[in-house]
Amino acid sequence: MNTPNDARQYAPATERNRKPILEVLLQVLPQSGTVLEVASGTGEHAVFFAPRLSPRKWLPSDPNPQLRASIAAWRTHNPAGNLHPPLDLDVRTLVWPIETGASPEWLNLYDFKTSPLVAIVNINMIHISPWSATLGLMAGAGRLLPPGGILYLYGPFKQGGHTAPSNVIFDETLRSQNPEWGVRDLDDVVAAANAQHLTMLETYQMPANNLSVVFQRASNP
Ligand SMILES: C[S@@+](CC[C@H](N)C(=O)[O-])C[C@H]1O[C@@H](n2cnc3c(N)ncnc32)[C@H](O)[C@@H]1O
Repeated sequence: MNTPNDARQYAPATERNRKPILEVLLQVLPQSGTVLEVASGTGEHAVFFAPRLSPRKWLPSDPNPQLRASIAAWRTHNPAGNLHPPLDLDVRTLVWPIETGASPEWLNLYDFKTSPLVAIVNINMIHISPWSATLGLMAGAGRLLPPGGILYLYGPFKQGGHTAPSNVIFDETLRSQNPEWGVRDLDDVVAAANAQHLTMLETYQMPANNLSVVFQRASNP
C-alpha cells in the first residue's frame, strides 16, 4: 500500500520482463557511459536496472509528470549512486532537453563529460504511442548517439504478420483505445531507424511473444 505521500506506481509486467531484458542489456550495452531510458513509465525498471548495470549511469525519462513523480519516488525508496533523477522528455520534440546539453550546465548535471551518452533503452512504448513517437525516437537516437552507440527496443512486433494469436488481440485492444496505437511491423521500424543512420544488429526472442531489437549508430557519413 502507498502512503499518501508515496507517488510510486506499479506496472506488474515490469516484474515479469525485467530479468530477461537485463540479460540482453548486459550483452549489448557498452561497458561504461550513460544510458538514457526513454519512456521509463513507473520507474520500476530504472531502479532494477541501474544498480545491476553499474558503473554505467542510468538516466530515466518520461513526458508524463505523474510518472516522473513515480520514478522519483521509486528512486527515493531504492537509491543507487548511478541513477539520475527523471528527465522530462517527449521524443517527438525536435530538440531533446539534453541537446541543450551542449551547455556546461547539462554536461555537469549529468556528468556527460566523464560518462557520455552511449545508449538509449526504450521498453514498451512504440506500440502505445502514435507512429510519430517512433519517428521522434529514431531521429533523437540518430542525433544523440555517438558512432557505435546502441538503441535497444523491447515490445511486440509484427514480422510478416502477427507472430502470435495473443498479439492479434493485443493489437486490436490497442487500436480500440487509440487508433494511432498498434503493434508495429518490424520492417517499418527498421526502415525508420535506417533513415537515421541506425543499423539493426540483432533481435532476441523474449517471453510472451515480445522481441528485443538492437540497433547501432553507424559512423557519420
Ligand atoms: C506502456 S508504458 C511503458 C512504460 C515502461 N517503459 C514499462 O515498460 O513499464 C508507455 C510509456 O510511453 C510513454 N510515452 C508515450 N508517448 C511518449 C512520447 N512521445 N515520448 C516519450 N515517452 C512517451 C508513456 O508516458 C508511458 O510511460
